[in-house]
Amino acid sequence: MKLRTIKSIDVRGKYILLRDDFNVQIVDGKITDSFRIEQSMPTINALRAAGARIAICAHLGRPKGVRNPEFSLRPVAEYMNIPLIDDCLNRDFIPAMQDGDVVLLENVRFYEGEEKNDPAFAARLAAGFDIFVNDAFAVSHRAHASTVGVAEILPSYAGELLASEIVNLSAVMENPARPLLSIVAGSKVSTKIGVLKALAKLSDTLIIGGALGTTFNYALGRRVGNSLFEADQKDTALNILEYAKENGCRVLLPMDKGVAKEFRRDAARTDKSFDEIQDDDVIIDAGPKTTARNIEAIDHAATVIWNGTVGMAEWAPVWSVGSFAIAREIASRTRDGKLVSVIGGGDTVAALEACGVKDDITYVSTGGGAFLEFIEGRTLPGIAILEEK
Ligand code: 3PG
Repeated sequence: MKLRTIKSIDVRGKYILLRDDFNVQIVDGKITDSFRIEQSMPTINALRAAGARIAICAHLGRPKGVRNPEFSLRPVAEYMNIPLIDDCLNRDFIPAMQDGDVVLLENVRFYEGEEKNDPAFAARLAAGFDIFVNDAFAVSHRAHASTVGVAEILPSYAGELLASEIVNLSAVMENPARPLLSIVAGSKVSTKIGVLKALAKLSDTLIIGGALGTTFNYALGRRVGNSLFEADQKDTALNILEYAKENGCRVLLPMDKGVAKEFRRDAARTDKSFDEIQDDDVIIDAGPKTTARNIEAIDHAATVIWNGTVGMAEWAPVWSVGSFAIAREIASRTRDGKLVSVIGGGDTVAALEACGVKDDITYVSTGGGAFLEFIEGRTLPGIAILEEK
């Protein structure tokens, strides 16, 4: 895939509408995870240095087309120390802009036309700009006005982050060093069918963990107690196991579990094998045998792709054991030059951060849903429109 990138254009004095993904976690008005913002800075800095006049367009959460201060991008503007334009369609700031200036437009999802990709809304959003730059890989799986609509109106280019996501993710998909181990966990089989199949085809070994793993174990008739899983995905799980077998991929499911009587951070933990699990047990983490087996699988891999924590990693230290062990082993093998590691998804990246090992990973994607869709081999509409013809 060859994209039109900002490297090929002269932006001095040009008005640029720059799409970034600043859908970050904010608690009490403070940003708790700035990864996506930091990763967006190279493009912003390059455009500034080249003399562009930049208005950043972004979304936060899902305000469903209604102006709701709870979803304001003000904390992001304050964090970046740039002016916030209170309405993404307001263009009053344009005449005062100088080369190198940057502003942030208020949440584009305050308008219904955004998610509907309404052409009239896209035209209003594009108004006043010479060029559109998309650097928001993480939202490029959405065909919205700010990812696709404006790209149909303005000359459009990929930013550095978006281009780097494509290069790094394509490399691991197209020519991975083998053996390739994929680790997929999280809560819902129904949202991960596509990626599980794609990875079952591509990988030598596939670890399925978390509540996803519980659904697979349930499908195989194992005891799962009162845990989170999807009974209606039983056939899908069995089909995926069959598909993996046909494609020569070894699937590793959870063997034992950290359980409690209640789904609570401060609940008392017991480690149990599946045949010990009782009807009122709730699975909250991988058990020690599963974790040792996962580490061994990582040690035999040359490439690891990881998405989804294998337990409630945010409930450290009791329930993060399985996920943190994976994070640390991947990081240490990568640091030693023995592993290529590619990791995506908000909770997974948060686990890396909690362990202080994010910088050791070969490539950490800013995408969650977009990462999964890309790995699945789907066409991301916000990227397809930037392809060089
Ligand atoms: C994300 O956080 O994955 C992206 O910003 C997309 O957000 P969305 O799922 O609300 O479209």
